[in-house]
Amino acid sequence: MPKLAERLTSDRLILRLPTTDDAPELHDAVAASHPELSRWMEWAAGDEPQSLEETRSFCKEAHRKWQECIEYPVLITLSTTGEIVGASGFVAIDWDVPMFEIGYWVRTDCVGRGYGSEAARRLACYAFEELDAVRVELRMDTLNTRSWSIAERLGFEWEATLKKIARVNNGELRDTRVYAMFSIADLKAPR
Ligand SMILES: CC(C)(COP(=O)(O)OP(=O)(O)OC[C@H]1O[C@@H](n2cnc3c(N)ncnc32)[C@H](O)[C@@H]1OP(=O)(O)O)[C@@H](O)C(=O)NCCC(=O)NCCS
Repeated sequence: MPKLAERLTSDRLILRLPTTDDAPELHDAVAASHPELSRWMEWAAGDEPQSLEETRSFCKEAHRKWQECIEYPVLITLSTTGEIVGASGFVAIDWDVPMFEIGYWVRTDCVGRGYGSEAARRLACYAFEELDAVRVELRMDTLNTRSWSIAERLGFEWEATLKKIARVNNGELRDTRVYAMFSIADLKAPR
């Protein structure tokens, strides 16, 4: 099993492992984005954003998951200022295939600048070029237009819709879109 990189760079971004020192800034980003995150992300369910202590635990756990190569949680940071503008990574890995599912969120006041697409594209490149991926996947709620726009912008194929596969955070049944890509040749530049 290859060791996963501590950081990946792209045009405007550095994707890097979180440390516990990042917890306060990451917590601010999560709190500032809570209305959007709580609609779509299971870990953000509820009326209140996660506590600083929960963010600190996420940072610690991220390091363990990275070391054990079971997930690859990275912060999305700006290469110019180092500011944390979201988080991304491989939220599921099957090394036998190998296949990788990419997840992402962007701080609400930084949405609309292409950071989500740039991060997902960099991770897909990394999976195909350095981890021998034969399949890279994105999954999202059918109603999450902004998220499936990222998949389509990058050239992922809408492979399936899994109906009534889970409940969203308000308790309603959710349909999930599955997008997949099988070769880096299909990966488009976001612009
Ligand atoms: C999903 C999410 C990351 C999408 O954010 P986003 O800003 O729409 O996506 P991107 O970062 O790729 O930006 C694309 C937008 O930036 C614009 N843009 C500006 N500069 C750009 C650039 N250099 N490259 C690409 N797009 C650029 C695009 O035109 C597009 O604008 P539009 O919304 O008017 O169509 C964000 O809405 C989010 O974090 N939501 C909450 C969490 C969530 O749902 N996560 C996904 C769960 S599956």
